[in-house]
Amino acid sequence: MKITVIGSGYVGLVSGACLAELGNDVICLDVDPRKIEILSTGGVPIYEPGLGEVIKSNVAAGRLRFTTDVTESVAHGLVQMIAVGTPSGEDGSADLQYVIAAARAIGRAMTEYKVIVDKSTVPVGTADKVRQAVQEELNKRGLVPQSPGLSPAFSVVSNPEFLKEGAAIEDFNRPDRIVIGAEDEQAIRVMREMYAPFQRNHDRLMVMDIKSAELTKYAANAMLATRISFMNELANLAEKVGADIEHVRKGIGSDQRIGYHFLYAGCGYGGSCFPKDVRALKRTAEELGMPLRVLQAVEDVNDAQKSVLLGKITRHFGDNLKGKHFALWGLAFKPGTDDMREATSRVVMEGLWERGATVTAYDPVAMKETRHIFGERADLRYADNPKDALHGADALVIVTEWKAFKSPDFNVIKARLKNPVIFDGRNLFEPADMKALGFEYHGIGREA
Ligand SMILES: NC(=O)c1ccc[n+]([C@@H]2O[C@H](COP(=O)([O-])OP(=O)(O)OC[C@H]3O[C@@H](n4cnc5c(N)ncnc54)[C@H](O)[C@@H]3O)[C@@H](O)[C@H]2O)c1
Repeated sequence: MKITVIGSGYVGLVSGACLAELGNDVICLDVDPRKIEILSTGGVPIYEPGLGEVIKSNVAAGRLRFTTDVTESVAHGLVQMIAVGTPSGEDGSADLQYVIAAARAIGRAMTEYKVIVDKSTVPVGTADKVRQAVQEELNKRGLVPQSPGLSPAFSVVSNPEFLKEGAAIEDFNRPDRIVIGAEDEQAIRVMREMYAPFQRNHDRLMVMDIKSAELTKYAANAMLATRISFMNELANLAEKVGADIEHVRKGIGSDQRIGYHFLYAGCGYGGSCFPKDVRALKRTAEELGMPLRVLQAVEDVNDAQKSVLLGKITRHFGDNLKGKHFALWGLAFKPGTDDMREATSRVVMEGLWERGATVTAYDPVAMKETRHIFGERADLRYADNPKDALHGADALVIVTEWKAFKSPDFNVIKARLKNPVIFDGRNLFEPADMKALGFEYHGIGREA
């Protein structure tokens, strides 16, 4: 099948490359010429494990191409998959300008039937806006809607994406479910055909009305964010009452109705999805006069949790950190990605700088992105490896749970730090073990 993916970011590139891998003929479009230049010359502009290999083999096989040419890409695909960003607007709602711009571009250039797929995470009602934008462009060209009963000039489908950065290829290839919101048979047939290779093992396709599909994506992210904030708030209580949140986690996770996923206490969620999607869902509900109180609490708890390490640091060293120096391990919002959108590391570093401290930071893949965001500044040094970050620091602060941080040489840590103090925002180590090794160790919800 000929497929055009509009937007070559984390979702667009993974979707495009994986669909090409299945034998489809895919063009990935982007408005950012720098990205397309990198992709066209064999590079990958983002870090995502395995993505480079899939792109390379499919480009070599002639099934995957990259372009900034809208006319060429709209002409190409029967399926036009919109995978552009939907960042938070000023009021918290999803900013749909990129989605609508993509829809208009399709409307301006299409000359035959297209299935327009909203892959981006978009609020309920967006498919209608996309349909309207495309139709307006067709009207401008004098292409009036076809008579009822005949096949439409285009269909709009909601097909939200559930992949996780860091495991995106695996998630795309082996999805728990494929949600299709569609209201006409022709579009459903095309979607069934495109996703047929994913159906071999069992039926993963869920066809529903468009609004339910749009809401499903927000409901999933809001539920996951809720579990995290729930555990973080309980972790803070555990510290007060002298309990250990790790015991509590295992105690409740073993209940099959609850399960173990997304129950880790930590220093808050970040990334390109949970924060903005929780905000957007809240905003939708507010606009309809029924605020979602649970999600307000989820967001408030998370905002506070991103500063929980700072609180522990200032309780230990005092609020004035002038002259103090910290080693920071982990900059990406989670392991497996270089994405730093709304990452907790940013809140921690900015809080340390505000109080006069300096930082030496290390991340296995997000160094380039950190440089891109913060540039060169006197209070931030970039380390080449975790050990180098430690030298002369008053304490080690762990923000992201990269595997490479899980079994460090504690003798080296102790020898390099000025004080054997660790603030661990991801509970990588056992407090009792750390005490036995001579560290002052501050985890989350484990201060008993
Ligand atoms: N990142 C994730 O883990 C993830 C997971 C599931 C869903 N989503 C959703 O998918 C969408 C895309 O997210 P992302 O992380 O891939 O974003 P991204 O910012 O990495 O990529 C978006 C790309 O779209 C391009 N773009 C913008 N306007 C365009 C236009 N008119 N035509 C062509 N290209 C255009 C941008 O230049 C950019 O390269 C969002 O709605 C997001 O919420 C993201």
